[in-house]
Amino acid sequence: MSEYKIGFIGAGNMGSAMMEGILCAGLCEKNEMIASCHSHGTKERVEKKLGIRVTLDNREASSAKIVFLAVKPYQLADVVEDIKGSLKEDTLVISVVAGKTLLQLGQMLGSGMHIVRSMPNTPAMVGAAMSAICTNDLVTEEEKEEAKVLFESFGQAEVVREDLMDVVTGVSGSSPAFIYMVIEAMADAAVAEGMQRKAAYKFAAQTVLGSAKMVLETGKHPGELKDAVTSPGGTTIEGVAALEANGLRATMMAGVRAAVQKSRDMSK
Ligand SMILES: NC(=O)c1ccc[n+]([C@@H]2O[C@H](COP(=O)([O-])OP(=O)(O)OC[C@H]3O[C@@H](n4cnc5c(N)ncnc54)[C@H](OP(=O)(O)O)[C@@H]3O)[C@@H](O)[C@H]2O)c1
Repeated sequence: MSEYKIGFIGAGNMGSAMMEGILCAGLCEKNEMIASCHSHGTKERVEKKLGIRVTLDNREASSAKIVFLAVKPYQLADVVEDIKGSLKEDTLVISVVAGKTLLQLGQMLGSGMHIVRSMPNTPAMVGAAMSAICTNDLVTEEEKEEAKVLFESFGQAEVVREDLMDVVTGVSGSSPAFIYMVIEAMADAAVAEGMQRKAAYKFAAQTVLGSAKMVLETGKHPGELKDAVTSPGGTTIEGVAALEANGLRATMMAGVRAAVQKSRDMSK
């Protein structure tokens, strides 16, 4: 029987961030986690950073009870070729590979495998991911809960229907990039009005963070929170009017929907 509780195949940006979250939350001891990757450079770097065993042998990593697939979509076929024979029937396989459906994963890995498909996002690197997971019919409620708890170690997680995974790609997978653009634009405006660049990023980013926390922690409707800071004839309503005139909401909706559509097209 394998001594490893969790195995990661792929130890790049996403895999490393997830492993760090899981270890920091104490959901797995260092000696119960193993990862595999492609290069000696990554092996040495991740071994040093996380203090876990890292191997170039995917079969060894796939001996764990829970096996994460955290490689790029085009690398998946090679990985599956390596591990197919060594996965056990009771292994829980958790894929973070964008766009690979439960059906496709099942066809690749073989029928009978318990499979979770997930979509985290890059704020996983600072423990603030928003992740979605969905499962095939073989995954038990206990396994589903176990997977959710693992994802919650580096942020928030929700179980969704698989047909919503493309929507998740738009609203949380791709959207950190949109928010970085918003932060950059806010800071550019502050710089244009005389603020130093470094300070401008701090003011803009902390405001986005704080506003997001207000939505999540008060549970209030975003419109209600917006109304609460717009005094009659004040500065904020002046800014709101300018944003409306320039199509902020329609632009944000178009961005998210374009990403959703691209995700749908890519999984055809
Ligand atoms: N980044 C995001 O925003 C995001 C969000 C949601 C989902 N995802 C998904 O997460 C997955 C990983 O993305 P990433 O950004 O972490 O990619 P990444 O940084 O390029 O990491 C990929 C990892 O896979 C390893 N690898 C490549 N070929 C391999 C092989 N044949 N056997 C074993 N390991 C192999 C690489 O090893 P070396 O380092 O040694 O080359 C690397 O550690 C992707 O499928 C992506 O769609 C990413």
